[in-house]
Amino acid sequence: MIDKLKELIAEAEEFKAQTKEEVEAFRIKYLGKKGLLNDYFAEFKNVANDQKREFGQTINQLKKTAEDKVNALKEELESKEEVKGIYGDLSRPGEPIQIGARHPISIVKNQIIDIFSRIGFNVSEGPEIEDDWHNFTALNLPEYHPARDMQDTFFIQTNPDILLRTHTSSVQVRYMENNKPPIRTISPGRVYRNEAISARSHCFFHQVEGLYIDKDVSFADLKQTLQYFTTEMFGKSEIRLRPSYFPFTEPSAEVDVYWGLKTETDYRITKGTGWLEIMGCGMVDPNVLENCGIDSKEYSGFAFGMGIDRIAMLLHQIGDIRLLSENDVRFLEQFKSAL
Ligand code: PHE
Repeated sequence: MIDKLKELIAEAEEFKAQTKEEVEAFRIKYLGKKGLLNDYFAEFKNVANDQKREFGQTINQLKKTAEDKVNALKEELESKEEVKGIYGDLSRPGEPIQIGARHPISIVKNQIIDIFSRIGFNVSEGPEIEDDWHNFTALNLPEYHPARDMQDTFFIQTNPDILLRTHTSSVQVRYMENNKPPIRTISPGRVYRNEAISARSHCFFHQVEGLYIDKDVSFADLKQTLQYFTTEMFGKSEIRLRPSYFPFTEPSAEVDVYWGLKTETDYRITKGTGWLEIMGCGMVDPNVLENCGIDSKEYSGFAFGMGIDRIAMLLHQIGDIRLLSENDVRFLEQFKSAL
């Protein structure tokens, strides 16, 4: 019988409860009027004299264990209840955390940076409010040069020397002024042009321009670099270089990538030609190198520039450039799954 009592003690020590009802059932089972303890106390008179002492001690031990357990569990449940009162039900699932999305301009910009950084280009940045020298004159666009009209310019107040940069070529000028060749840098950033706002054009947009200057850089290097880029960016390696004009490069070209004519969308965005114009490029004009303190007899280089907004619109099927700056959450949320 003593062994049975010891088992009950062990059982009582192990007992756990989640609710008040469970604790109460436990109390009744052990300590209630018709509980186990009373049964054993009643047995006391039948125990042999030489065992009475041990029996008595064990039964008292069981009683104490059961009482302590009931008290401890009651206290524990009460303190839980208190916490519940302050914080609500702690076992409820949490509120879902709102996850933001990267802006499509950032997504595309990061992709471009990533692609060029893999072939050794670093990232350079410069001010959006520029002076005439860095935006125009150093780039072979002296005062009264007609090509200044290619980019309608916002001037700051009445000072014609201070303006909002019209391209990030200004960053390239700053970079050449402060770094010696070899130079491999891309310059992403916002640019401004005084244009009527429509679905297709805005008075500000984003560019990434690239510059590579070293000894013996040739047009073939430019073409190879562009081909690498279009393959990585669009999965398309067929490109076409159409002669063009930029004051800061000679020769200059527009870069078209062969997009294909498989789908309705291909037809629409390429106007039925299969080709898509994606950027301007050329060999840096020796005048520009000299303006920036680089010996044009020793060094040559190429430059290119593309619009991020246009590429983002293309890749994400965005029909109106204005959506990119309206901050409409319904639009922005659609890019949650992008990089
Ligand atoms: N800066 C030119 C633009 O904004 C792009 C360009 C960059 C063209 C470099 C050729 C070389 O249109």
